[in-house]
Amino acid sequence: MSPKFDPDALPTSPAFWRSPLRGPWFTSALGVVLLFGITVLFVTGLLSYAAYNPGLSPVNDKTPDKGLLGFYLFAWPTRPSWLYRLTQGVHVTLGITLVPVLLAKLWSVVPKLFALPPARSIAHALERISLLLLVGGVLFEFVTGVLNVQLEYVFPGSFYPLHFYGAWVFFGAFAVHVVLRGPAAVRNLRDMRSGRQPESGDLVAVRPAAPTMSRRGAFAVVGGASALLFGTTVGRGFDGPLRRTALLAPHGWAEPGSGPGGFQVNKTAAARGIAADEVGEDAWRLVVTGPGGRRARLSRDELLQLPLHSAALPIACVEGWSTGDQLWRGVRLRDLAELVGYAADEAPDALVESLQRRGAFRRAALRANQIRDPRSLLALEVNGAALTADHGYPARIIVPAAPGVLNTKWVARIEFGDLGKVAG
Ligand code: HEM
Repeated sequence: MSPKFDPDALPTSPAFWRSPLRGPWFTSALGVVLLFGITVLFVTGLLSYAAYNPGLSPVNDKTPDKGLLGFYLFAWPTRPSWLYRLTQGVHVTLGITLVPVLLAKLWSVVPKLFALPPARSIAHALERISLLLLVGGVLFEFVTGVLNVQLEYVFPGSFYPLHFYGAWVFFGAFAVHVVLRGPAAVRNLRDMRSGRQPESGDLVAVRPAAPTMSRRGAFAVVGGASALLFGTTVGRGFDGPLRRTALLAPHGWAEPGSGPGGFQVNKTAAARGIAADEVGEDAWRLVVTGPGGRRARLSRDELLQLPLHSAALPIACVEGWSTGDQLWRGVRLRDLAELVGYAADEAPDALVESLQRRGAFRRAALRANQIRDPRSLLALEVNGAALTADHGYPARIIVPAAPGVLNTKWVARIEFGDLGKVAG
C-alpha cells in the first residue's frame, strides 16, 4: 500500500503552520518596534556614510558616482567632537539589539512567504517583489553589518558601498511595506489593546497546536534577548569597567593596557606591516606638499620644534566602539598647510598617506572644514607621552568628530589641495 499524500504536510498549506502565537497582533507589535528602530538605523547609517567624505575624489569610497542617492551628502561637521561617537554607537548598538525583534518578525510571517498562488493579481505580484527586496535587503544589511563589527571582512569589495546601496534598496522596500501595512498594524494594535474583537486573519493558525507559552511570554523572550544583546554591546562605547561588559565586541576582551597609551587600538603596527626601523628617528620624514610643487620635509624632532597644541578628543570607530577623550598634543593641520603656502583660514582639503602596507584606508581624504579646525592635529604625543607604535608613532592624524579610520596612523605624507569633488 503506497503512503497517502497529505497536502497539509507542505509549508504551502496554511494548516502546516500550527503555532498559536502567530497572528496579526504579534506581527503588528513587532512591526511597530521595527518601524522606529529601523528608521533610526537608516538615518544614523546615512550619517555615517556622509562622515566618510565619500564625495571627495575617490579615495575614501571608490564608487565613482552616488547619483541621486548622494543628494544629502554634506561636509561632516567637527563639532561636537563626540558626534560620530554618538551616531555610530547608536547605529551599531541598536542594530545588534534589534536582531531578536527582526527574527521574531520574520518567524511571525513565514507562512506568508510560502503562500500559493505566488501572485493573485499584478498588484499582489508587485507587493511580493517588494517583499523579496524587503526580506532579502534586511538580511543583507544585518549580515554585512554584524560581520563588519565582528571584524569578519569577507565582502566581495568594499563594505561601504555594499552596505550603503543595500540600505537604499532595503529602505525603499521598507517604506512601501509601511505604507501598505502600517495602517493595518495600527488597527490591529488598537484591537489588541481593547480586546473587543477576537483576533482574525491569514496568520492565525487554522489547526493550532497546544500553546507552549503565552504571547506575553513570547514578547518577554524577544525583549529579554534584545536586552541581553544590548547589555553585552553598549559597553563598547565607554571606558573603564563598563567596557568589559561588551562581551560581544571583538575588542571587548582585550585589555587596552595601562599608561598613557592604555586605550583601545583597532589595528596594531604589526598587523599593518609597520617595521620598527622605518619609523626610527633616522629613517622617518614627514613630507608635506602644497600648490606649485611647494614641499616641506620634516623629521619628528623638527615637528616638535613647531608650535604644539593640545586637544582632548575621542576615537570613534565605524564598528561602534569608542574611547573617551584622550589628550593629544601635536602640530595643527592648518599650520602644516601654512608651511606650504596656504593662509591657515583658507587651508584646503588634504590627502593623507600612511606608511602602512596592508589593509584599507592607506590613504584618507580630509575636508577643508576638518583641516581648518584648530583642534585637528598631526599628533605626536598622547596623554603626556610620545605615541605608542600601535597608536601611530611617529605621528598620526586626530580630527574632532571624524570616523576612526580617517585618523590615519603612521603618517608619511600630507598633500594639501582641493580634491576633485565627485558628483553627489
Ligand atoms: C525589517 C522590517 C520588516 C520585514 C522584513 C517585514 C516582513 C514582512 C513580511 C514578509 C510580511 C508578510 C507579507 C505578506 O505576504 O502578506 C509582513 C506582514 C506584515 N507586516 Fe511586516 N516587515 C517589516 C516591518 C514591518 C513594519 C515596520 C510594520 C508596521 C509598521 C509591519 C507590519 C506588518 C503587518 C501589519 C503585516 C501583515 C500581517 C497580516 O497579514 O496580518 N512590518 N511583514
